[in-house]
Amino acid sequence: MAGEDADERASGRIARPRVLSALAVVSRVPPRNRTYELKGDGETGLSRYRASGLPMGNGAECSGLRLAELVAAVSLASDLGLGQPMEHLLRSCRLGLRLAESVGLSEDERAVVYYVALLGWVGCHAESHEQAAWFGDEIAMKADRYEVDMAGRAGAGFVLRHVGAGGPPWRRARLLAPLIASHGKVAGAFEGTHCQLAGQVAVGLGLGTGVRDALHHVFERWDGKGRPAGLRGEQVALPARIVQLAGVVERHRREGGIDVAAGVARRRRGTQFDPSLVDRLCLQPGRMLSGLEAAASWDELIDAEPALRPVMSEEQLQRALEAIADLADLKSPYTTGHSRGVAELVSTAAGRCGLSAGQAAELRGAAWLHDLGRLGVSSVIWDKPGSLSEAESERVRMFPYFTQRMFARSARLAPLAEIAGQHLERLDGSGYPRGLSGAALSPAVRLLAAADVYQALLEPRAYRPEYSPADAARVLAAEVRAGRLDGDAVHAVLGAAGHRLARRREWPAGLTAREVEVLALAAQGHSTKEIAGRLVISPKTAGNHIEHIYLKTGCSSRAEASLYAMQQGLLGEPRAAQT
Ligand SMILES: [Fe+2]
Repeated sequence: MAGEDADERASGRIARPRVLSALAVVSRVPPRNRTYELKGDGETGLSRYRASGLPMGNGAECSGLRLAELVAAVSLASDLGLGQPMEHLLRSCRLGLRLAESVGLSEDERAVVYYVALLGWVGCHAESHEQAAWFGDEIAMKADRYEVDMAGRAGAGFVLRHVGAGGPPWRRARLLAPLIASHGKVAGAFEGTHCQLAGQVAVGLGLGTGVRDALHHVFERWDGKGRPAGLRGEQVALPARIVQLAGVVERHRREGGIDVAAGVARRRRGTQFDPSLVDRLCLQPGRMLSGLEAAASWDELIDAEPALRPVMSEEQLQRALEAIADLADLKSPYTTGHSRGVAELVSTAAGRCGLSAGQAAELRGAAWLHDLGRLGVSSVIWDKPGSLSEAESERVRMFPYFTQRMFARSARLAPLAEIAGQHLERLDGSGYPRGLSGAALSPAVRLLAAADVYQALLEPRAYRPEYSPADAARVLAAEVRAGRLDGDAVHAVLGAAGHRLARRREWPAGLTAREVEVLALAAQGHSTKEIAGRLVISPKTAGNHIEHIYLKTGCSSRAEASLYAMQQGLLGEPRAAQT
């Protein structure tokens, strides 16, 4: 059943207006506490962006988290969606700041460059499902875009190479005709959605209209052949021009070295890129492009944030985490609202399990973040109606690890990342990515695991319809019997979901319901192996239960335990799945 919530490979059968739903979800986060007010003076390209004061969380309200840390963590998710190694955007950001300094931008203007560089591609997965339908592996397609100056014949050739990729020739032909007939409207729609979503995220994070407007320009080009508005020259916001150049150059520097990167910039001078920026870069390419790894390490990059370096209030952090949950769920039309649903379930269930208010808040945060790593897996896999190949399964098994890595570097978010990264581990060690088991899984992890499975079952997937609440509860109960999900956690989640539950009986000597089951079977003469078979658990797990029974009851032999079971009226208690 670990597979059931790897489950969440979505399908293409649900028709819905993706753009509107995407924006509607994100725009539920109101643009409170707008921190940047960027004004244009209409004189020069360089002085059009100014920042006003940035309110900061303080005292009891302070979350202890810099906005830059959260945005940098989200940029790691964008890296994966772009088919790049993590920290590509951190390095691009550092290069963007060097370019901004070289052209004399003020501190406030550099702050805009900083946020546009980190958030520029945050909307890149908003239409992954649709992109995969046109182009196959959409992440591979985006990675290849770095190779091509997309206007003109090169761009047309790129589209020809990628349309229907991975599919049979007849499918490629069938897709090609409407794509050509659309005269670029298909790609334009994707890029328009991307820009709108990135802008909405920026506003939702408390950034102002200047950052938002520059984010709307990341697909525009110096030569006017970009999208969605076809802006030209200095009509394209300077931060967007800087970030475009920095992103492509960083990719080619990493792959081919400084000379190759400078060559790419020169070849696209005056087409994709602002000629004056290319000239700045190529004046001293070694100085501009050297040492980006060290300069863009996590701490260096966070410290490099220009201007006022806002710290988020606790309320701002909660809203931002909700917005991240929505971002993750946009990866598939089947998962819309999934992370919010899981967060609501664990919020209620935490109290039922005796978690403290602090632990409950941490768990809710983990629930909001838990699926962001899904951005690193192609929608071709999530949306596949049939079973996955071995290679596809391996890819899926990595996504909780991606989630954990994204947030692990922030001291404030690392505890949430730890919980989120384990939500697909199982008590019997059958989960992933690390195959943890038993005591290694905290009560918070067990609750998140149970809530994730339950919520996922209520949602349709490419390979199955949605379950009714009653059927979902039955599946969870079976998971408890199989020793994969924790009985107490499942009980709490089902209670939180509104299921009417039989009162959990208190068992003598602090025995759990599962231990009572094992005791009853042992008392009936079943061997450890037979008990394991009857309860669909491993012999090792059954042996552990027997050890715990001896420890709790003070018995030291099977006969003694059988006597205890009879005296306590525990025989005939096949009941672990009482939920
Ligand atoms: Fe999930």
